Amino acid sequence: MARDNDKLPKGDVAIITFLAAVELVESDMWQQYNELGGVNGGNAAYKLALQNLDRNVPQYISDHTDDEMSHATFLNAYLMSKGETPVNLDEFRTLPSSQATGAKQIGRLTNLMNLDVDTSWYTRYRSTQNPDLGGGPFPQAVHIVNQPAIPVNDADTPPNQQQPVPPANSRQSRMQAIANTAGFHFATFEQAGASVYTNLILNVSHQEVLRVLASIVGIEVDHFSVWHEKAGNAVSRPLAGDEPDLSGALRVYRSESAGLLRDSTFAQAKRRRRGDGDGGGGEPTVPRSVAGVLGCGNRPGKGGGCCPAQPFRRRLSIERTQS
Ligand SMILES: [Fe+2]
Ligand SMILES: [Fe+2]
Repeated sequence: MARDNDKLPKGDVAIITFLAAVELVESDMWQQYNELGGVNGGNAAYKLALQNLDRNVPQYISDHTDDEMSHATFLNAYLMSKGETPVNLDEFRTLPSSQATGAKQIGRLTNLMNLDVDTSWYTRYRSTQNPDLGGGPFPQAVHIVNQPAIPVNDADTPPNQQQPVPPANSRQSRMQAIANTAGFHFATFEQAGASVYTNLILNVSHQEVLRVLASIVGIEVDHFSVWHEKAGNAVSRPLAGDEPDLSGALRVYRSESAGLLRDSTFAQAKRRRRGDGDGGGGEPTVPRSVAGVLGCGNRPGKGGGCCPAQPFRRRLSIERTQS
């Protein structure tokens, strides 16, 4: 039983309750990824496609799933220890599971098979503008609209197929596109998790609540950092192969018709690089630094000319969802 002097301020209770709900939602997404692509995930081809981004992705998925479930459990236990009501979202677990090998057939809170992924964090974090001072809006790094981030069914993506780089057939290409979408989605929702803690921690008033949130926020930032790197890998080697493979990759991936990538950001990069002429040093502008991270040789400190849009487009392997 909680003693009166253990009672938390109402505002702090509201913040912890909200964060417990956030963690349950995060856990739901990670569980779906973990069933299919984690260390013990049941979809071998999906795991191989994820490992084309980085060989450790299944391990990261499993570890982050554990983290989020422990966050939700801890926050709910803390609420109960203070005589408050824990969060239970079970009545909302009504969305269907993937039909692909590896997925459990249980109700879900989130749908990972029709995702619009906001990738503007990628450009915002490289911008010289401050959104707190009116900066933005910030462009999408890539356009991911109505795409799956997990395999949908075995007819679409056979679970035991190989996943060479570059893919050798349309089903392999389809699976790689799904894994690449996941590569951006991981970072997108961990960016959201890290940001929500960073903002709400400034509004708590009880010292113990501050310590509870401080114990989690660092983990969320670490999660984002891990996936930030993998998102960059989704559009660079070894996934896209070496330069001699680019024409083949272009045919296989069909990125121009994908509907996921628009060239405006990279066309701007080309124009700006022509105009600034500083050889890549100094504070990065939005499009230049995006182009640099995505595989252009013109990274800060390397000098050279502008990063043309065409080679970047050839490196992408995110393609259209088949409906
Ligand atoms: Fe978390
Ligand atoms: Fe997280």
